[in-house]
Amino acid sequence: MMQIAVIGAGYVGLTTAACLAEIGHEVSCAESNVQKLELLKRGALPFFEPHLEELVQRNRQAGRLSFTSTPEAIARSHAIFICVGTPPLENGEADLTAIEGVARTIAQQATGYRLVIEKSTVPVQTGRQLQRHLRLYRRAEFTYDVASNPEFLREGSAVEDFFHPDRIVIGVESPNAANAMREIYEPILEQQFACPVHASCEDRSVPPLVITDINSAELVKHASNSFLAMKISFINLIADLCEAAGADITKVAEGIGLDRRIGASFLRPGIGFGGFCFPKDLQAFVRIGERLGLDFSLLREVEKINLRRVDQFVEKVRRELWVLRGKKIGIWGLAFKPDTDDIRFAPSLAIIQRLLAEGADVSAYDPQAMTKAKEELPEIRYCQNPYEAVEGAEALLLLTEWEEFGHADLERVRRLMDRPLLVDGRNMLAREKVIAHGFQYIGIGQSAEVGAVALA
Ligand code: UDX
Repeated sequence: MMQIAVIGAGYVGLTTAACLAEIGHEVSCAESNVQKLELLKRGALPFFEPHLEELVQRNRQAGRLSFTSTPEAIARSHAIFICVGTPPLENGEADLTAIEGVARTIAQQATGYRLVIEKSTVPVQTGRQLQRHLRLYRRAEFTYDVASNPEFLREGSAVEDFFHPDRIVIGVESPNAANAMREIYEPILEQQFACPVHASCEDRSVPPLVITDINSAELVKHASNSFLAMKISFINLIADLCEAAGADITKVAEGIGLDRRIGASFLRPGIGFGGFCFPKDLQAFVRIGERLGLDFSLLREVEKINLRRVDQFVEKVRRELWVLRGKKIGIWGLAFKPDTDDIRFAPSLAIIQRLLAEGADVSAYDPQAMTKAKEELPEIRYCQNPYEAVEGAEALLLLTEWEEFGHADLERVRRLMDRPLLVDGRNMLAREKVIAHGFQYIGIGQSAEVGAVALA
């Protein structure tokens, strides 16, 4: 058991804090936003993430997890995870203001030894900068090591990803730091815990541990996210080709993904990737490469393909409705992906903004993300269920593949709509089933002539 501070209680920090407590450490989780800190102290979470609430409650009650100010967390810890946000600056580079602030606070407040671990996604060589900063601001009695421990948590499955990681990556520059990191993750490496997500968890596979230098560990994260984003933009490009050539992207993606060297995951075409990781990590990685004198146009193309998805999708809708002004349009799904309430960089919001700009009348439903969406898009109607969102609508746009949309009563939906047009931005629904219920179905990467029904 180690005394650990986690600085930042966002999607990464709160998940990391609760999971580290769950595997037996004593964790102080610090949050600088006073409202959020009060919410956490009252046992409420500022966002939705499956299984996280019960993990936080259980470990708070067991006395292994507490919520404090940053100085308090630093004072009572041996290891400090920095999990603060690194949002994009105007020029696409990562904004390291929060990281720098935490580094300064640690140097000025900590006494004795600390292992300072960067978990936030940071540009390569940030660890070096962190070491310099700690040296610059430190007081005489403070000694430290710096480590990089990038996270690979996906929103919607973050707790599961913590307990069943594909790999644990650690960047260190001293045996002392390496040993301390092994000690922190020992319960995961030795599989000495009951996975809180699956009661009868059979998966006892020990995740590979990649121990390297700090720069390399930082690069693994940015390179992983950029590769996954590239895979998505690749399949979206092939989807456009399928539409132009008259082919079916679902079958093409299946045929590609069966190659073990490619793999089926992240080959789902749609309205593009969103979230607080891929868009900003891709931008930051391009800036890093260019700052180091490299031509990163490959990844610039990945970004351009992704940004085009929004206008291409709106064009599909406009092609069917001709004029959007005054048209009632129902939206299913606002979150950037299912099983989260996160709307950051969500293509759904960009699509809605374009519809509003052309005078459409938009009603939306999302199982989790409407509270956060209302802050960004107050001017649309938020509905209590998927059926209310399609009342009188001339088109239904599926933008987030929430499981419940797959069980919707399509007969009832068709009866509620003025026109049975369904535009599926995530190829979630089975074309044949939707057409059999009397809809005109338009998906992604499927030639338009298939499924068009004569409008009576
Ligand atoms: C991602 C990485 O997967 C994770 O390893 C990293 O730690 C954080 O960033 P996340 O952004 O939470 O996780 O979600 P992810 O499931 O990767 O999806 C990202 C976006 O890509 C979503 O908008 C999703 O809709 C989109 N996506 C994903 C596709 O469009 N097609 C796919 O096949 C997969």
